[in-house]
Amino acid sequence: SQKKEMLYEGKAKQVFATDNPDEVVVRFKDDATAFNAQKKGQVDLKGEMNNAITTLIFEYLNEKGIKTHFIKQLDEREQLVRKVSIIPLEMVVRNYSAGSMAQRLGVEEGIKSPVTIFDICYKKDELGDPLINDHHAVFLGAATYEELDEMYELTSDINEILIDLFDKINIILVDFKIELGKTSDGEIILADEISPDTCRLWDKDTMKKLDKDRFRRDLGEVTEAYVEIYNRLKNLLKK
Ligand code: C5P
Repeated sequence: SQKKEMLYEGKAKQVFATDNPDEVVVRFKDDATAFNAQKKGQVDLKGEMNNAITTLIFEYLNEKGIKTHFIKQLDEREQLVRKVSIIPLEMVVRNYSAGSMAQRLGVEEGIKSPVTIFDICYKKDELGDPLINDHHAVFLGAATYEELDEMYELTSDINEILIDLFDKINIILVDFKIELGKTSDGEIILADEISPDTCRLWDKDTMKKLDKDRFRRDLGEVTEAYVEIYNRLKNLLKK
């Protein structure tokens, strides 16, 4: 599948058309942004690591029966995926308090939640992706109530599989964000990426943060954290 014109450029990725109208190429960049792009930088190897990590995780989820857009990795920075229309809602799952929820509720980070917490955010850069509820999502036409039920169920299934996967590599899955897309036949599947850019991942023994918070909070050793997650996953999953 020949890569053709660029269809879309986001903060961390580019999307290109191919000869096949149902398939696109995703290219992962080293660019890093945080706080709605108020903080910008570059993280060496991030594009390659996020491409490789997303590949390992999406292949694993596929094996566990989760439908994803992933088709195959093409090279260090690129993967071929099914074309979907992205539903403009960020599905956030939290197993422990951290980040914006800890701030909003005035609690410390790292408190294990007795229930799985779901947030939805409206994907709208101009507004800084605000936290919304189901009724707002229906009002906006982003999804129906029935679709939201399906989206929460899919997100919950993915959370269960990922908690277990990361546990096997001695990592606590604190929280993460996914994006879902609709195929041409209206099926809702996992799209975008799952990587240290989109998850909070803490080492179980040391509680060291091995994710994008190292960039957001200037903690140093950002590349090293991404490489560490990739190596642990690779050692577990690569035959
Ligand atoms: O910032 P907040 O605490 O709401 O983030 C929750 C989770 O969602 C974190 O793992 C963060 O990396 C991810 N996230 C994301 N993209 C955003 C906002 C949050 O991947 N735009």
